[in-house]
Amino acid sequence: MALIGLFFGSSTGHTEDVADEIKGEFDKLSPGLVDLHNIGATTPEQFLSYNYLICGIPTWNTGQLQDDWEFFLPKIVGSNMTGKQIAIFGLGDQNGYGFNFLDAVGLLAEALLEKGSDVVGLWSTDGYQFNESLGEYEGKFLGLGIDEDGQPELTTPRVKQWVAQIRKEFKLEEAAV
Ligand SMILES: Cc1cc2nc3c(=O)[nH]c(=O)nc-3n(C[C@H](O)[C@H](O)[C@H](O)COP(=O)(O)O)c2cc1C
Repeated sequence: MALIGLFFGSSTGHTEDVADEIKGEFDKLSPGLVDLHNIGATTPEQFLSYNYLICGIPTWNTGQLQDDWEFFLPKIVGSNMTGKQIAIFGLGDQNGYGFNFLDAVGLLAEALLEKGSDVVGLWSTDGYQFNESLGEYEGKFLGLGIDEDGQPELTTPRVKQWVAQIRKEFKLEEAAV
């Protein structure tokens, strides 16, 4: 088992593509550090076995969790995730859903914080245009924001910068990686 578990849900493939890209960025420096899992085929035991997690979630149905995450989260209700480090990335469409942009990032962060985990990888809202987001807290997104519908050309630079950031915030050097 690798040190980091990367779990994604994806209904039309965008979040899966970004998950692959994030794993690719890690593999460049540390091959095999990240295990990739589709949350739709993940057991609670698998999810809870990692101390470092990266969770990818698109917002669907106007402000809702993506279906596979919606189905999975009740399975870990009551689990203790104290001490686990979690970085979230979210996909959304700021032009089409400006009042619910990346809402699922906030919903997922709330669910995981409530279990005692630490959320790292917060990301500036600069460069996005939206009206409201449950994923925003005190001027930052609670994870990386990706908009494959409106800003696909920014995805790769954002991923590279965020992966460098979370490598530091996970303190992987101290974990002897
Ligand atoms: C019916 C529908 C509802 C959506 N609702 C939202 C939303 O509320 N907020 C948002 O930011 N994006 C919303 N989106 C945009 C998706 O999150 C975006 O297209 C994302 O890239 C899809 O990821 P996936 O291909 O991994 O499922 C919606 C898209 C559709 C088609």
